[in-house]
Amino acid sequence: MILPIRAYGDPVLKKVAQDIEPGHPGLEQLIADMFETMYAASGVGLAAPQVGQSIRLFIVDASPFATDEDGNPTEDEHLKDFKKVFINPYIVEEDGEEWPFEEGCLSIPGIREAVQRQPRIVLQYLDEAFKEHEEAFEGFAARVIQHEHDHLDGVLFVDHLPPLRRRLLQGKLRDISRGKTDAQYKLRFTPLK
Ligand code: NI
Repeated sequence: MILPIRAYGDPVLKKVAQDIEPGHPGLEQLIADMFETMYAASGVGLAAPQVGQSIRLFIVDASPFATDEDGNPTEDEHLKDFKKVFINPYIVEEDGEEWPFEEGCLSIPGIREAVQRQPRIVLQYLDEAFKEHEEAFEGFAARVIQHEHDHLDGVLFVDHLPPLRRRLLQGKLRDISRGKTDAQYKLRFTPLK
């Protein structure tokens, strides 16, 4: 089932999400719904708070970047297995020189901005079977994880922008919270004053 995505302004996006336990009610269905919701919105990642659940869970699928329209491998071929579920994830290391990359977010339709982040991370997480992993990621994969991991701490990519840049976006962000967007997927709005 496609779930409505919470738009900028919804208080759930500002909350720190809680760890979950094995046997969390409805988890399997939630994960399936999140994939369906993410694909319907052409997203690369989706965090549970974006569908109104303040739990430490996000999904990613960057595998489409591994091939071009003819099915041939691209320079991002290493992303072909980058379809994953992350439960109770925590970034335990982050290093390297910050690099800019233009990020967007399904909760902030129509806005893309260059965000500075470090290129390498180590992530501790549980997979769908609640098996523990500690894994290193870099480049685009690290970037997607850093963005989604932020959602679990109530942080949005616009929070990383320089103060002036952010101030210039205030009007647009308020408009989004009030439903002024031409996004082609289902959103749920909580208007900001
Ligand atoms: Ni996002």
